[in-house]
Amino acid sequence: MARILITGISGLLGINLAMEALQNHEIVGVDRGKLKSAPFPVVKANFYDRHVFIPALDAFHPEWVINCAALTNLEECERYPGQAKILNTKLARDLAVDCAERHIKLIHLSTDAVFDGTKQDAYTEQDEPNPQSIYAQTKLEGERAVQEIYQQATIARVNFFGWSLSGRRSLAEFFFNNLSEGRNVNGFTDVIFCPMWVTDLSRTLIAMLEKNLSGLYHVVGSRAIDKYQFGLEVARRFGLRENLILPLSVEDSDLTARRSHNLWLSVHKLSTDLGREIPSFSTGLDGFYTQFQQGYPQKIRSYQQ
Ligand SMILES: NC(=O)c1ccc[n+]([C@@H]2O[C@H](COP(=O)([O-])OP(=O)(O)OC[C@H]3O[C@@H](n4cnc5c(N)ncnc54)[C@H](OP(=O)(O)O)[C@@H]3O)[C@@H](O)[C@H]2O)c1
Repeated sequence: MARILITGISGLLGINLAMEALQNHEIVGVDRGKLKSAPFPVVKANFYDRHVFIPALDAFHPEWVINCAALTNLEECERYPGQAKILNTKLARDLAVDCAERHIKLIHLSTDAVFDGTKQDAYTEQDEPNPQSIYAQTKLEGERAVQEIYQQATIARVNFFGWSLSGRRSLAEFFFNNLSEGRNVNGFTDVIFCPMWVTDLSRTLIAMLEKNLSGLYHVVGSRAIDKYQFGLEVARRFGLRENLILPLSVEDSDLTARRSHNLWLSVHKLSTDLGREIPSFSTGLDGFYTQFQQGYPQKIRSYQQ
């Protein structure tokens, strides 16, 4: 059993990671005040103020810190680049300094979006990033700061789906919510990604910590799919109407932040170093559906009251 401090505990990854890690580890979360009755202790802190975080580290003495806090909305990052810089770059740098000083193992979450998507093949960890948005740029600067300051830290470039506290944080929820209400939605046919079920991601991150992996890893699902097809897969799994999903090019959408077309990332390094197969979105969707049947979304949302 290890003591794990998770930042961004109210986020899509944070809450699901905590639920998974809680089975074998001691968890403390850092939150701005959303969680009221979670099954683990929560420290209240706003990361715009650096000094609120250090007392939490020193009081709990974690062996591991997993940094899930970020400004993740791409459109908001374009509108508020200063905030994106603080949460996606400066916080990562500060945490690397604090964890290095205390010899605490750090996993920092980054993104598949660091790549420009022009490669015809899967991106490896050796490929040169070329971020296309403020979000991707500030995330890349965050991962570089962590690498420079703390070589033993782990950086995980991810993309995932699951149930969130707000019910609106993942692409799978977006398709589920709209299709359940009988609403048409667009599905991008020219954005390829490798989504991983958040519980598979949580298990993988814990396995990486247990194996003491460090350095840069692509931690995504083992199969690539475009976002339109992914919507169809969600519809099929939940028995919802596939024809409500309209195929669209991302270039014809009204999104302001630029999206990369190909975010197919190789998980070869991860799979080799962990000595196991990396799951694909397909088995993950089964788990996502089972959680729905078991009332998991309602369960995690009740922690907000
Ligand atoms: N979701 C994906 O598919 C995806 C893809 C690529 C990379 N990632 C990366 O994975 C990590 C986790 O993503 P996610 O989807 O779980 O993000 P998320 O749902 O947006 O959660 C972000 C977390 O950061 C917290 N936060 C934001 N501003 C804060 C502040 N000023 N002080 C304290 N906490 C603050 C949020 O708190 P509130 O709830 O109070 O806002 C929330 O808990 C991030 O590093 C993200 O860049 C995610």
